[in-house]
Amino acid sequence: MKYTRIVVVHYGGPDALRVVEEECPEPRAGEVRVKVLAAGVALPDVMAREGTHPETPLAPFTPGWDLIGEVDQLGGGVSGVERGQLVAAMPIHGAYAEFVCLHRRELVPVPPGIDAAEAVALVLNYVTAYQMMYRSVHVKQGQRVLIHGAAGGVGTALLQLGHLAGLQMYGTCSSSGSSAVAGTGCVPIDYKSQDFVTEIHRLTGDGVDAVFDPIGGTHLWHSRRALRAGGTVVGYGLVSSLRGKELASKRPGHRQRFRGTAIFGLYMAASRLLPERKRIVPYSIQTLKRLKPDLFRQDLIALLKLLQQQKIKPLIARRMPLVEAGRAHELLGQGGVIGKIVLLCNEPWPELAQPSPEAL
Ligand SMILES: NC(=O)c1ccc[n+]([C@@H]2O[C@H](COP(=O)([O-])OP(=O)(O)OC[C@H]3O[C@@H](n4cnc5c(N)ncnc54)[C@H](OP(=O)(O)O)[C@@H]3O)[C@@H](O)[C@H]2O)c1
Repeated sequence: MKYTRIVVVHYGGPDALRVVEEECPEPRAGEVRVKVLAAGVALPDVMAREGTHPETPLAPFTPGWDLIGEVDQLGGGVSGVERGQLVAAMPIHGAYAEFVCLHRRELVPVPPGIDAAEAVALVLNYVTAYQMMYRSVHVKQGQRVLIHGAAGGVGTALLQLGHLAGLQMYGTCSSSGSSAVAGTGCVPIDYKSQDFVTEIHRLTGDGVDAVFDPIGGTHLWHSRRALRAGGTVVGYGLVSSLRGKELASKRPGHRQRFRGTAIFGLYMAASRLLPERKRIVPYSIQTLKRLKPDLFRQDLIALLKLLQQQKIKPLIARRMPLVEAGRAHELLGQGGVIGKIVLLCNEPWPELAQPSPEAL
């Protein structure tokens, strides 16, 4: 049987993505072949394509951090799952494909009756938001938080979970995202025309209890200035390393692991030395999942339950066919995307001609 997957043939721009058709993989002992229904598109995928994310595999590779799919075939010795069962997984790469083979322990059961595109938004974005709120900071009702990139994938997840938790929220976004941000009860701050530190102190007086910062670099220190005494900045990304469609570093393949970690370590140490008990702490979903896989599973199951109970509703910016992965990366790289772009990997798209390898 043939199947289609997307391959990053070399580190670089969206044109480094190719549609490839080849023989479908067979699951090995302990593995399950999953028919992918939805794969999330996120900035970590874009950074992996550029070769700058710490988790980037060697090219060529298939990108895709997260997926929702159906159990298709069981490898030897696998029990506890059935063909046709809905599952979620975060393989970090490999999800941009019609089928993928994963170890049984990677699979988290998904309750029936849930939209696959909405569910896939939970795996990377909502687990990140949830763990930062409840495992890094332990937010409490009525506390003030500042959410940077509030209209983005993780940002909109923080907004919805923050609304549920009864937080007072302030969020930076560009003007196109302000109504979506305000819709969750968050006060939008246009990061392109306003200084967020001045705005936060004008609106709150002494500052916020927590800042969620995916921008990174020197931005972390500005975020610290928006804190009240005893507050915490959670740093979790490097949006500042990407400018529009181009890479800010202009060095594809150059991983940010060491430089990013060094800057972070410096800020964490400096913050501890200064008075006011303000902390800067890092968060990494993949590190926490490796150290404590049960927490990832437990938190994702809790979020799937909230989705099933309709207490959260992920904002899906676009649903696109798998073969348009390159276009999806272009859109995300250009900015202004509100919510999550999702690739639907096994849907018939009547308006699409048979994909050719040159489709991207
Ligand atoms: N540590 C972890 O475990 C973890 C997990 C998931 C994601 N991440 C990281 O989190 C970051 C965000 O990922 P994502 O998928 O949510 O990306 P996304 O959907 O593209 O969202 C990024 C948002 O940031 C906004 N933005 C850009 N520059 C900004 C600035 N200077 N100030 C405020 N907002 C700004 C963008 O707004 P405009 O487009 O309107 O400019 C966009 O809405 C990435 O760096 C990713 O690697 C980390």
